Amino acid sequence: MTSEPSVAGAGSAPSGKPKKREHWASPLGAILAAAGSAIGLGNIWRFPYLAGENGGGAFVLIYLGLVFTIGLSVLVAELAIGRLAQANAVTAFHRLGKPRWAVIGWLGVASALIILSFYSIVAGWTVAYAGKMAAGAFTAEGTQAADVFNAFVAQPLTPLLFGAGFMTVTAVVIWRGVSRGIERLSLVLMPLLLLLLVALMVRALTLPGALDGVAFLFAPDFGAVDFDTINAALGQAFFSLSLGLGAMLTYGSYMNSAHNVGRSAGAIVALDTGIAISAGLVVLPAVFAFGLEPGAGPGLVFVTLPEIFAQMPLGQVFGTLFFVLLAFAALTSTVALMEPVCAFLIGARGMRRHTAAVLTGMVAFVLGIPSSWSLGMWSGVTLFDMTIFDIADYVTAKLMLPLGGLLIAVFTGWVLGGRIEASLAPQGGGGVLVAGWRLVVRFLAPVAIAWILVSGLLGG
Ligand code: PFF
Repeated sequence: MTSEPSVAGAGSAPSGKPKKREHWASPLGAILAAAGSAIGLGNIWRFPYLAGENGGGAFVLIYLGLVFTIGLSVLVAELAIGRLAQANAVTAFHRLGKPRWAVIGWLGVASALIILSFYSIVAGWTVAYAGKMAAGAFTAEGTQAADVFNAFVAQPLTPLLFGAGFMTVTAVVIWRGVSRGIERLSLVLMPLLLLLLVALMVRALTLPGALDGVAFLFAPDFGAVDFDTINAALGQAFFSLSLGLGAMLTYGSYMNSAHNVGRSAGAIVALDTGIAISAGLVVLPAVFAFGLEPGAGPGLVFVTLPEIFAQMPLGQVFGTLFFVLLAFAALTSTVALMEPVCAFLIGARGMRRHTAAVLTGMVAFVLGIPSSWSLGMWSGVTLFDMTIFDIADYVTAKLMLPLGGLLIAVFTGWVLGGRIEASLAPQGGGGVLVAGWRLVVRFLAPVAIAWILVSGLLGG
């Protein structure tokens, strides 16, 4: 338990008294909230289609290598900075370093808004799909899941309405505050998601032909690796672990000295990676079992899973449950995208929590409209062959998040130095781990990220 009582919402603190910073009610709640941030559409929607587009095994191996070195180390850094500063991302860098380091926080706020804008659109699809499943849209013989998907996302209004609904629910959770909103939601939803994913994995792996999908995911073909693969794997590592934009930093700022940052980070990475691999083991075996195309892109989950559900006993029930839970996984992530922006507006601009939530939601919704239309009437609007949706995804995951991660690593390793290490191992223990972590944030992470970013830009 925390020593400081958690308050419901900064905005609801009695006026006149200084507002206490909110904290998580328990270490488990903190871990599940951060895992809820990490686990989302990135694991179940984005990871399987990226693995499919990038040749499978080699992508997965590079991804794992990056997650357990750079990803884990930047996660520890973000949580530790937040816990030390007890402030939102912009204020934290300002407070612990020189004012110019606040630029990392600003970059993060911008990244969070852009990701939230297109992420909430995809989250809206999951809700619409839960409805389609429940209505039995995919149980009829000869239903073409790909046609249903393409027709749905191309509509000008319906996907936006679902996106707006999703944004509203996100804002309500943020409004309720850290422990009463974010933490309670995660404590209920995360275990449910895990259970359902295991059930689906068993079903997908017992389909005839499923093993081809397993081989695709785990047998590396290094001949297919180029800079795009490495770039995509790095972007996915940051996206999936919610790194590089101050989201984990903000969640770390609701931790206090009772929370063990290193152990929490290990648990978060293990859960996030386990869920991504499991989602791969649901989607790719199904792709191969039904003779679909693994490189189908963003529609992959929305096309393959309805095909499996249509063919399995009680598929209508399982399908509905699956998309409901996917929506819940997305919700703990949209909440994590909205919170760093609101924490900044509350902490640095003195805004009330509910005003911040409504404002952030509205701005992100408007920013998302072009992304949604780029799958329909604006599909012809492209730059370097990318639609607006692709550009928003590319600029954030492949450029802004890795750049944010690079700056966070440099700041932690070279500016904070001993201060942050003392906070990681207050009794001076954990020697080897802290030393390894120091090497990664000082050298490996900055050099590797810079190399991948520069090569990706020159090559792409
Ligand atoms: N990590 C989330 C996912 O994998 O779906 C996406 C995300 C959430 C990214 C929160 C960034 C963030 F701050």
